[in-house]
Amino acid sequence: MPSPADALPILDVDGLSVRLGKMDQNIVDNVSFTLAPGQTLCVVGESGCGKSLTALALMGLLQSPPLSISGGTARLGGEDLLSMQPADFREIRGGRMAMIFQEPMTSLNPGLRIGEQIAESVRRHKGVSRAAARNRALEMLRRVRIPAPEKRLDEYPHQLSGGMRQRAMIAMALANDPELLIADEPTTALDVTIQAQILDLMRVLQSETGAAMIMITHDLGVVAEMADKVAVMYGGHIVEAGSVERIFTDPQHPYTIGLMSSMPSLGRRQDRLVTVPGVVPQPGAMPKGCRFATRCPFRTEACETVPVLRPCGEGHEVACIHAPLENLAARDLRETGT
Ligand SMILES: Nc1ncnc2c1ncn2[C@@H]1O[C@H](COP(=O)(O)OP(=O)(O)O)[C@@H](O)[C@H]1O
Ligand code: SF4
Ligand SMILES: [Mg+2]
Repeated sequence: MPSPADALPILDVDGLSVRLGKMDQNIVDNVSFTLAPGQTLCVVGESGCGKSLTALALMGLLQSPPLSISGGTARLGGEDLLSMQPADFREIRGGRMAMIFQEPMTSLNPGLRIGEQIAESVRRHKGVSRAAARNRALEMLRRVRIPAPEKRLDEYPHQLSGGMRQRAMIAMALANDPELLIADEPTTALDVTIQAQILDLMRVLQSETGAAMIMITHDLGVVAEMADKVAVMYGGHIVEAGSVERIFTDPQHPYTIGLMSSMPSLGRRQDRLVTVPGVVPQPGAMPKGCRFATRCPFRTEACETVPVLRPCGEGHEVACIHAPLENLAARDLRETGT
């Protein structure tokens, strides 16, 4: 599938950093990417790598204190989200941008009927009549393929199955035609069949609406299904970014290579690194230079300098001092004389 052009990004994130309390090290550090209308960026990495905090920062939903934005800009069609006042954020959240979560009850109100809550959001953002908003709610339940939508409209969230609640949350997120949809592990809690249906649905709705999407996942299967572009996160940094083709066929960062190899059906370069041993260090306890150094089989003293993302092929960037690793392997061979 050709990916929509990068020419005019709807979202331009530059140097986004998030701080925890007074900690010296940013917990999300210098994250940059762009996203064009209709494009899907998958943000992938193990648990604790800063994926959710990146999303919450963009949505103005960081828990503050202890978390705060410590740098960067994030322009949604020209407006900087990171310097936006809470009142302005409430205007665009659920309107121009919306988020869906792993747990639908994060955004659904248990005390309101499904139809009422979607209609209320439509009235707030579009200022239409009650009847028009209710019609829009019904249309949305149809579009997310909830059976018997007229009946579901008047039900409470607890009366729906997990998969149906997920659909209702998607209906609510898309009710105001957002330009940007952020989905944080939206199918992780669902069984495999329902997961495939929800991903399918999201793809269809995205192509109908032309929304840009950030899909957060720790599942490379989801990445393969959904992504145009991929950003691999480790320890609050983007360590590798590129088109889905590049990331799957020619991963360059030792962490990405490790992730790929731990997924047998997609595994590449299995001869090099079979899994990623060890765990993500706690915030504040990251190594000084490359944050992956505690787990990296290729580290040298040079890795005590923070690696920055640099191009490594068309539409592909990597933040590893030693990439491409072929160079390191060749040097080792020369030095050992083997
Ligand atoms: N409200 C918070 N207070 C303190 N630490 C937090 C908070 N939220 C997240 N963290 C920490 O920030 C790091 C990144 O978290 P998160 O973005 O949720 O990771 P991911 O979504 O990639 O699993 C983790 O170490 C997590 O424990
Ligand atoms: S910079 Fe060094 S420690 Fe970091 S991934 Fe590259 S080789 Fe490993
Ligand atoms: Mg998360």
